[in-house]
Amino acid sequence: MPLPLPRWIAHRGGGALAPENTLAGIRLAARLGFTAVEFDVMLSQDGTPVLIHDETLERTTSVCGRVADTPDAVLFSLDAGGGEHIPSLAEAAALCRQYGLLANVEIKPATGYEVLTGEVVAREVAVLWRDAPTPPLLSSFSHEALEVARQVAPALPRGLLYEKVPDDWQTTFQRLGAYSLHCRADRLSNEVLALAREGQVPVLAYTVNDSLAAQLLFGRGVASLFTDRLDLFAPETSLYKSLHLGG
Ligand code: G3P
Ligand code: MG
Repeated sequence: MPLPLPRWIAHRGGGALAPENTLAGIRLAARLGFTAVEFDVMLSQDGTPVLIHDETLERTTSVCGRVADTPDAVLFSLDAGGGEHIPSLAEAAALCRQYGLLANVEIKPATGYEVLTGEVVAREVAVLWRDAPTPPLLSSFSHEALEVARQVAPALPRGLLYEKVPDDWQTTFQRLGAYSLHCRADRLSNEVLALAREGQVPVLAYTVNDSLAAQLLFGRGVASLFTDRLDLFAPETSLYKSLHLGG
């Protein structure tokens, strides 16, 4: 089943307008009219999937330490910016479902936890979005995580994520039964786009905060762009409308 991929996806929840990977960010994206959000999910020491990008806490909270070594009781007490807490996947799912947002759940395993993270996140996503009209799109740089996600929740669509797409991407894409190809916007070649078009593979590119770059990428056939600039590309802005090329 094709996913209703919008032109713009709010990156790390609310982009730059809210603390990244927080409920405030997701709420803001929804209020600005975004219909899809991407966020990063890692396991705590207790094995709970939580929204956070880095393996360590210092950039986005006021303490140091590794996420994988931090128990829930500590993790959920931290300030993730603006008084927001680090959300659990369950909290983010509830909000996405409440607002009808398409979620791109990026499985972001700490090093060494690839299989466990893929397994736990896929299993939990399948339960949290059970009977939802649109399933979330799982994605990961980790092929191991995607492989195990496929085993535990085969019905969930998977996005194969790269910085730069390698020449043999189609082999991996087929092996993992992927739905979409995600990659860094400034590393996207015309060869990859041509092959994706031929195979009817949606291409999603990150992170685009510039309207000229966006226009070029949409013109080259990219389906969706991840952006931090929710202020520029919210569906109600004129800039968004001028770039919303038939999507
Ligand atoms: O999923 C797209 C993008 O979020 C990947 O990069 O580092 O922002 O998670 P990063
Ligand atoms: Mg991400």
